[in-house]
Amino acid sequence: MKTALLLLPLLAVQAAAADKAKPDAEQVKRGQAIYARTCIACHQPTGMGLPPVFPPLAGSEWVAKGTSVAVRNILHGMQGPVTVKGVTYNSMMPPVMGLKDAEIADVVTYVANSFGNAAGVATEADVKAIREKYKDRKTPWTAAELEKPE
Ligand code: HEC
Repeated sequence: MKTALLLLPLLAVQAAAADKAKPDAEQVKRGQAIYARTCIACHQPTGMGLPPVFPPLAGSEWVAKGTSVAVRNILHGMQGPVTVKGVTYNSMMPPVMGLKDAEIADVVTYVANSFGNAAGVATEADVKAIREKYKDRKTPWTAAELEKPE
């Protein structure tokens, strides 16, 4: 009994660490609804895209780079060429208009934790900081730019 009590704080610390790595279920649920409105036509319900025009998000090395790639694509769009899972796409993703920063964080977190991906969590503050940093940007991102850290 005494030992069990001593272990409690340790378990609490471990639970907190696990929470950080795992996305909040409510955020993922909100993100899924936004995905269904704003990404699904191109990236498809399965996240597999429609090669050779729309690239997959499922198992994408670009999603695996971290949430800032998707945030930047949503804010400014992306223009090819880009190689995703061995296929080269030379198309154009237009900026996704009309989403609030919290909604962008939700949909990006959904994508980062769906379709077999495990690429972290985006917060409203993360999106706000990226929007502010690139507020003068008018052109879509290129793969070469997204290669570099944000
Ligand atoms: C009108 C079609 C369209 C919509 C809508 C769209 N995308 Fe894209 N997306 C593309 C295309 C096309 C590319 C590749 C552009 C290129 O050739 O450089 C792309 C690239 C990407 C990439 C990087 C490459 C990859 O496959 O991982 C991410 C991440 C991404 N989109 C996420 C999203 C998210 C999240 C949404 C919804 C909020 C979204 N896209 C909405 C067409 C679209």
